[in-house]
Amino acid sequence: MSRALEYLRREERVIGKIIGIRFYPIVVEGALGSRVFDVDGKEYIDFSSQWAVVNLGHNHPEVIEAVRSQLERLVFSSHTTFPNTVAIELAERLVELTPGSFEKKVWFGLTGSDANELIYKIMPVYSRRRRMLGFQGSYHGQTMGALSLSGHKALTRFIGFPNVVKAPYPFCYRCPFKQTYPECGLLCLDFLENNVVENAPAEDLAAVIIEPVQSDGGVIVPPLEFIPRLYRICRDRGISLVVDEVKVGFGRTGRFFAIEHFDVAPDVISMAKPMASGFPLSAVVGRAEIMDAALAAHLFTSSAHPVSCAASLATINVIRREKLLERASKMGNYILERLKEIAEKHQLIGDVRGMGMILGVELVKDHRAKMPATFETASLVYRAYELGLLLTYVGTYSNVVEITPPLTIGIEEVDRALEILEKALDDVEKDRVDRESVRRFVGW
Ligand SMILES: Cc1ncc(COP(=O)(O)O)c(C=O)c1O
Repeated sequence: MSRALEYLRREERVIGKIIGIRFYPIVVEGALGSRVFDVDGKEYIDFSSQWAVVNLGHNHPEVIEAVRSQLERLVFSSHTTFPNTVAIELAERLVELTPGSFEKKVWFGLTGSDANELIYKIMPVYSRRRRMLGFQGSYHGQTMGALSLSGHKALTRFIGFPNVVKAPYPFCYRCPFKQTYPECGLLCLDFLENNVVENAPAEDLAAVIIEPVQSDGGVIVPPLEFIPRLYRICRDRGISLVVDEVKVGFGRTGRFFAIEHFDVAPDVISMAKPMASGFPLSAVVGRAEIMDAALAAHLFTSSAHPVSCAASLATINVIRREKLLERASKMGNYILERLKEIAEKHQLIGDVRGMGMILGVELVKDHRAKMPATFETASLVYRAYELGLLLTYVGTYSNVVEITPPLTIGIEEVDRALEILEKALDDVEKDRVDRESVRRFVGW
């Protein structure tokens, strides 16, 4: 038996299924740059960045060095009561980096969910309005407030709090209003304004929360004018606009924050995943009056962890010095063009889309009815793993292959990964992937 299977059997005995989504039987032992090594010594190209976390690649030497030197100075102080210098420095950087020239302040946590939990908690307190608006398909996190804001089936299967209303996200490939952009004039936004917001009702709406690219919902990029118009709808009614940058912030889309593509300065931004290159850290940056709205309202003993904050400061420096924003735009465009070429040769691909280095390949059984090719997507991701490429899939119908490589990945690795992806696709189309093996790992 392989060591991986041995470990997975041990895992099954002691770790609850609650913890994960699995696509294939990997157990990781090491990683470097864009490569991951499993316990059997097999090497993979990491086209997931571990759910968009290791944007700089695994074990970036500058991050490792910053962490090492922080460990020698201070491993821990609880920022709740004993503030540390690194967190203050990082907060100053984040205030500078986020859009908006108004006064801003920062809160720190440990993971994306706790950041969005703060949004859920604080926006009604600040505004003295009770309700919130989120989007269908959105993923904001697993804690009760964050899941209540979400519209993704992984979260809507739980009964969340009842004060959140959901509107359709502008998903042009599967428009719920059967329209075509731009001829539609963004009918979905008229619906949002006149039907959803007005009936919420508007005067009781504290905030709207949106992902600038809806990631787990299926890598959906909204039309460029959608968010600016949404912002104006909010502003005219005294509703705050909150942007969730947990997955797409810190350079992934080719801008430091994805919202910069839309030229909007939101009232609040949440961020996490890549911000400390794999060390647990999240943040909310918002208008000072929001972040001061309640005293000691979201306390986590180990938030603003000095080691994670040191990793984050190093991450920001690397993004700047290695020009990773430019790189993400360029490499992202290159991958998108290559995916379009692959799509022309494969019926299974219904759509390819993305922004910078978050890309989605949507698989369908037919191009007219767009029946989601869900099992084929699981098979493709499984086969890619067998061939040495780590991919995941997302989407309301579990039929969108998500591509989020490290922003530092080289062209040869990208080409090799795309070759594997195409070979895996070919094998799926020719029914050469073992169905039983895939069934055991059908993810979410
Ligand atoms: C956009 C977005 N927000 C929030 C979260 C939750 O973050 P975490 O899993 O770190 O709690 C995720 C996780 O996938 C996400 O994609």
